[in-house]
Amino acid sequence: MVFEKLNNMQASMLLIMFILASSPTVLLSSQNFPLAKLNCEDRCGDIRIPFPFGTTEECYTHKSFWVTCNDTGFNPPKLFGGNTSVEITDISLDGQIKLQLFIAKNCYYNGKSNISNNPLLQLPKYFTVNNTANRFTIVGCDAYGFVSGRRINRNFTTGCTAMCSSEADLTEGECDGVGCCQTTIPKDVWQVRIQVRSYSNYTNVWDFNNCSYAFVVEKDSFNFSKANLTNLSNVLKLPSVVDWAIGNGTCEEAKSNATTYACVSANSDCYKPTNGYGYRCRCEEGFEGNPYLDHGCIDINECETQNNCSKHALCRNTQGNYTCYCDPEKFDGDGRGEHGCNEKAPKKHNMKIAYILIGVASGIIALLLAIIVVYLELKRRSQNKRKRKFFLQNGGHMLQEKLARREASPEMVEIFSSSDLEKATKNFHDSMIIGQGGFGTVYRGVLADRRTVAIKKSIKVDPTQIEQFINEVVVLSQINHRNVVILLGCCLETDAPLLVYEFITNGTLSSHLHNEAKARALDWNTRLKIAAETAGVLSYLHSSAATPIIHRDVKPDNILLDHNFTAKVADFGASKLVPIDLTQLSTMVQGTFGYLDPEYMQTNQLTEKSDVYSFGVVLLQLVTGRRALSFDRPVEEKSLANYFLSLLKQDLLLEIIDDNIVGLGNMEQISAVCKLAKECLNVRGEDRPSMKEVAMELEGLILGGKHSWATINVENEEEKESLLPNDGGMSHFGNGDMSSSVGYDSINRDHIILPMDGGR
Ligand SMILES: *[C@@H]1O[C@H](CO)[C@@H](O)[C@H](O)[C@H]1NC(C)=O
Ligand SMILES: *[C@@H]1O[C@H](CO)[C@@H](O)[C@H](O)[C@H]1NC(C)=O
Repeated sequence: MVFEKLNNMQASMLLIMFILASSPTVLLSSQNFPLAKLNCEDRCGDIRIPFPFGTTEECYTHKSFWVTCNDTGFNPPKLFGGNTSVEITDISLDGQIKLQLFIAKNCYYNGKSNISNNPLLQLPKYFTVNNTANRFTIVGCDAYGFVSGRRINRNFTTGCTAMCSSEADLTEGECDGVGCCQTTIPKDVWQVRIQVRSYSNYTNVWDFNNCSYAFVVEKDSFNFSKANLTNLSNVLKLPSVVDWAIGNGTCEEAKSNATTYACVSANSDCYKPTNGYGYRCRCEEGFEGNPYLDHGCIDINECETQNNCSKHALCRNTQGNYTCYCDPEKFDGDGRGEHGCNEKAPKKHNMKIAYILIGVASGIIALLLAIIVVYLELKRRSQNKRKRKFFLQNGGHMLQEKLARREASPEMVEIFSSSDLEKATKNFHDSMIIGQGGFGTVYRGVLADRRTVAIKKSIKVDPTQIEQFINEVVVLSQINHRNVVILLGCCLETDAPLLVYEFITNGTLSSHLHNEAKARALDWNTRLKIAAETAGVLSYLHSSAATPIIHRDVKPDNILLDHNFTAKVADFGASKLVPIDLTQLSTMVQGTFGYLDPEYMQTNQLTEKSDVYSFGVVLLQLVTGRRALSFDRPVEEKSLANYFLSLLKQDLLLEIIDDNIVGLGNMEQISAVCKLAKECLNVRGEDRPSMKEVAMELEGLILGGKHSWATINVENEEEKESLLPNDGGMSHFGNGDMSSSVGYDSINRDHIILPMDGGR
């Protein structure tokens, strides 16, 4: 009924209380510290034998603590005190021994009493009957009894009476004098003797009781029952509790004699038992084990067993103690007790979240920055790599090597960076273009040092021709001639290499010849000067330069004029270096139609004479102002060279002389230049004069204002007709003594100009 009234809550509370109450026993049973001395038996069956008890002399501290484990005839084996028959069922280090004690009986059968009194318990020194756990008990309905013995050095006696007149008077579980009486035993009792007697030999209770019993029993081990009036006759022994102690003085006295002091373990302590003589030892708080053994007291890890740290607290074990603490990240408090750790205020929590967010955000930003930096760096590297690739592809390495070997003077070839030139040309803007053609595009550019330059963006260099290209760059950089456009340097970091030249202000000869106004301004003397300067350059290229160079593309478009109308020969893009011992090169036909050497076109054999042919056409253009190829004219007039030659045959040269230059006193020179042009245009290269001869002839014309080359031919009358077609008499140019040609011979002048004058 009581339990039914409990609700679940209360029931579970009870359960928890039960568990809590029982847990210390559970913990004590899990002992794993040494009990006995080394090599000593510490058990007898299930009974522990802690030192100072022992089964042999080496294992106990004193004869009083001698115990014997008897396993012959007993299973499990039984433990006895020394060589006595006192059976021990438990020895505790707290100072208690449980033992089995005979009970005293007084029975009366058939008019005869059967008495087994006097069971004696003689305890060794320092052992005393426990005064609180035991009770002297008498069971019977006509009985009284005594327990007598020694308390220290005196006798003592005590007893009680158990009476009843009817079985009905007896109450289960009650031992209050009716059928059962109990009395306590005083302190310090070390020897007991028990007696039980009947008042009237069971006369009045005979029908239900003829026996009386007396015993000292552990009070919890005996619970009176009506049946015990009879069934105790079968019981021999009952458990009782004895206290034990060690030594014979107080703790102070014991400590004063270190050799006999029993509490040998570190962290052990001495205390005086409430009952008996001597002292006992115990481990200090926080330790457990056997204090009577060296190092017998062992620290208790309270964190693993029993502590009062809070639910959320952390526990740290220390020697003899432990500490509780709260996770400082999350909780406040000392960590002890039920509410030892309290969650931190939510504000701080929010702060922490904010910090985390800030941390994460800055991490992401840093990551992004890192990615950007890496990206830019990779881009820069790939651009550099690209530049480097072009640089190498365009023979930059080769050029650098040559520069290092001083084949080219470093002051004369500058290696520009692509970014410099991009800046100079506004990123190669169309507005900066000053020329365009099959060779590539020419831009005007202003360098950072304010120099104006012409930058030629070549068509892509054939990889197989790289060495050739670099050679040309190197060689051209070495050409130091006032009538050659100076190559300032190059840039190899782009797909197609860039060449940087000095900037010539007045444009090409072509632009002057084919512009009406400009052509009018270009008088004969200027034209002659331009022709002479150009011839000088070509002569220099063919013979004077360290390595002969064939220009291959001589034409008015490649002759630039500065503000003084000084000729500057440009565009060696197609030029070929001629190895010194070779005069002919087999190569792909290259050049500009109208100027191409017919022999070269047929044979593919490139010689210096190809330039001579082209220069002949240029001379014609200077004289006539016409284009080398005029598609808008009748077929016969289309090719200037062919037309000129055919007019020459018909003696009709005047037809095509530029009106702008026809004037007084220059007809001789014009005629001479025409004759010179005719020689240059010979179909067979070897019939053409060399560039050196041409240049000298033109120089002579300028110096003397007269025709001079005829002086060479003065001894050959046939040559007087040499302006006429197909005379073939120019062969002497190839081996004539040129030093004699510089002279001026007025005698032959008239003869020479005769055909011209005749034509007018
Ligand atoms: C054993 O008990 C007897 C008395 O019963 C005693 O005289 C003897 O000294 C005891 N000790 C030994 C070691 O036998
Ligand atoms: C007393 O009697 C009860 C009931 O029969 C029994 O269980 C108990 O063991 C007896 N006590 C002793 C000490 O024999």
